[in-house]
Amino acid sequence: MKFGIALLCGLLALHSCEVLADTETACLLKDPPIQCGGFCLSVLTPVLNHLTIAQDHRNPSDLNKSNEVLVRQYTMETQLAAMQEKQASFENSLDNTSLQNNILGQNFTERQDYLESQLSALQEAFFRVETKIKYLGFEQIGSKYFYIEKVTERNWSSASKSCRNMGGHLADIKDQEELNAIQANLKKDTHYWLGINDLSKEGEFLSMPSGKEAPFLKWASGRPTQLNTSNCVFLYNGEMYDYPCNYSFRFICQTEEENE
Ligand SMILES: *[C@@H]1O[C@H](CO)[C@@H](O)[C@H](O)[C@H]1NC(C)=O
Ligand SMILES: *[C@@H]1O[C@H](CO)[C@@H](O)[C@H](O)[C@H]1NC(C)=O
Ligand SMILES: *[C@@H]1O[C@H](CO)[C@@H](O)[C@H](O)[C@H]1NC(C)=O
Ligand SMILES: *[C@@H]1O[C@H](CO)[C@@H](O)[C@H](O)[C@H]1NC(C)=O
Ligand SMILES: *[C@@H]1O[C@H](CO)[C@@H](O)[C@H](O)[C@H]1NC(C)=O
Ligand SMILES: *[C@@H]1O[C@H](CO)[C@@H](O)[C@H](O)[C@H]1NC(C)=O
Repeated sequence: MKFGIALLCGLLALHSCEVLADTETACLLKDPPIQCGGFCLSVLTPVLNHLTIAQDHRNPSDLNKSNEVLVRQYTMETQLAAMQEKQASFENSLDNTSLQNNILGQNFTERQDYLESQLSALQEAFFRVETKIKYLGFEQIGSKYFYIEKVTERNWSSASKSCRNMGGHLADIKDQEELNAIQANLKKDTHYWLGINDLSKEGEFLSMPSGKEAPFLKWASGRPTQLNTSNCVFLYNGEMYDYPCNYSFRFICQTEEENE
């Protein structure tokens, strides 16, 4: 429809041009807005300008073309240019928004992933150093880390507190093998508190580190007593005794982590 109007206006214009041609004035409509309207004028202006130039330069190839063909060519060129412009701006906006954002987003994610991996590596390293400092004085015996107090004697609750201050617990013993390994590090004829007691229920010996039933008990003969005053367990020459908790002995701590 618009093309039709443009063509009509163009022919009108050319007719006017032919009339005015010999006057050598610009090839314009007498009253373009009324005759054509805004759209038509915008399409025709380059056509008219070109015709003026063509006439001025007497371009032989242009002169050979009919006016109708010229107008159609120009209208088509205008439409093509408009379409190309539209396509370019579409591609541009595609580039700017979805595509670039996507790439930027990917890079942002990449960068974030990288930084997070760096951070977690640092945290891991820091944690290892922290653990080493925290458990300074602990030594690996078998599969666990133990601290054996070789000087200070404390009652059971004070010994327990001391182990917690070092980041551990009063120790329990897993099995005979672990008991042998620990015993090899202990002084003969000396008492060492362990993290085992039946304070919560008489006769039910629980382990401090786990809060569960003690994993391994190696009672000395005649032990445990049936006395509800002997609630804490110490190790003495590789055997266990239940005894009043208010007595002070050396003690053995262990770390919370197992190193299996
Ligand atoms: C213009 O048209 C005439 C006859 O149709 C032809 O002989 C001539 O070569 C054309 N000139 C150009 C420049 O196309
Ligand atoms: C796309 O971005 C360029 C510069 O980055 C800007 O010049 C252009 O106007 C933008 N295009 C769109 C459609 O936003
Ligand atoms: C995105 O990252 C790639 C490499 O991963 C890089 O070549 C490209 O330039 C980056 N793009 C932007 C927008 O940062
Ligand atoms: C210990 O047992 C005696 C009886 O054998 C009982 O009278 C006493 O209340 C018990 N004490 C505790 C703290 O359980
Ligand atoms: C254990 O020892 C601490 C400090 O020496 C003391 O305050 C506490 O009363 C003692 N506890 C028992 C049950 O003897
Ligand atoms: C432990 O407590 C009992 C009373 O419950 C007391 O007879 C004993 O002397 C105390 N022992 C120590 C070392 O405090």
